[in-house]
Amino acid sequence: MACKAPFTDSDAADEAVRSTCDDASTCKRFATSKGYWTDPYIQYFVRQTGERKAPEINRGYYARVQGMNQLLDAFLKKTQCECQVVNFGAGLDTTFWRLKAENMLPKKLFEVDFPTIVARKIHHIRTKPPLSKPLIETHSSDSLLLDGHSLDSDRFCIIGADLRDLQGLEEKLRKFHINTELPTLFMSECVLVYMTAEQSSRLVHWAAHTFNTAMFINYEQVNMADRFGQIMIENLQRRQCTLAGVDVCQSLDSQKERFLSTGWESVNALDMMAVYSLLPQEDISRMERLEFLDEKELLQQLLQHYSICWAVKDGLCLGFSQIGF
Ligand SMILES: C[S@@+](CC[C@H](N)C(=O)[O-])C[C@H]1O[C@@H](n2cnc3c(N)ncnc32)[C@H](O)[C@@H]1O
Repeated sequence: MACKAPFTDSDAADEAVRSTCDDASTCKRFATSKGYWTDPYIQYFVRQTGERKAPEINRGYYARVQGMNQLLDAFLKKTQCECQVVNFGAGLDTTFWRLKAENMLPKKLFEVDFPTIVARKIHHIRTKPPLSKPLIETHSSDSLLLDGHSLDSDRFCIIGADLRDLQGLEEKLRKFHINTELPTLFMSECVLVYMTAEQSSRLVHWAAHTFNTAMFINYEQVNMADRFGQIMIENLQRRQCTLAGVDVCQSLDSQKERFLSTGWESVNALDMMAVYSLLPQEDISRMERLEFLDEKELLQQLLQHYSICWAVKDGLCLGFSQIGF
């Protein structure tokens, strides 16, 4: 009889981290249903709009998605799409379909997440034509790999791996033909905070030392030492979800230091209050009219506790230092 490995505390901790994928996608699904931004694909991953989210949460997600997209799109323009994008902890992200629709696909987009999340995502892709059709359209031969555990096509690849296991991660990326010579954008959106500072530093160190021309965009918590930050930590802990990397989230400087100490040439970081004020104001005005916001202070506090940090290593002198808000 086959023996099942015992369920350990660390399995439970990883399970809690994986559940954050649903939180992010249900919040995005709700915000898009209200018109905060357009995402025609997320409905195929999250069917229900779910329960109502407060306007400050929706505005926070708006800033997060627009902020990340603005930097991603600037990188694609700078490299004229002659590049790769690697999304760490991508969850149910829909960027592949957006970029395909906008004719802005990189040479190849890789996503990495835990195998169970990847299996779920692939199941949706296999069973929903609006997701599978664009994938098939961007693939030229009959070698499309779409099994339960991974997806590999000419332009899009989804890998199940643990980002804390660098050897396993690199093996899988190489198996699916990552090209270390091509300009490569790494992204992580609320992901590194679930690893210890040492583990995330090893990951960003690996990226800086394996790729000569690269950029890393990281969105996550900041200013976590104050009372509001403490409450955020306690709320997650109540759901068994520990922010193992919270030490790096003390300040914008500690966020920058992770990259500066691991081989990146230059680093910028802004809290989301600053990003919000730098996003295109016409769209901000449209978005702010969607729902009345009573608690302006709460929104400010929320935005002050998240940040975007971006680091570059411009081996080919493509002008990455000009990318910003
Ligand atoms: C908060 S969710 C964010 C998902 C997506 N980036 C977004 O913003 O919509 C965090 C994601 O990171 C993934 N993740 C966290 N730690 C990971 C690890 N060590 N290896 C692989 N994936 C990880 C989780 O499974 C989850 O999908």
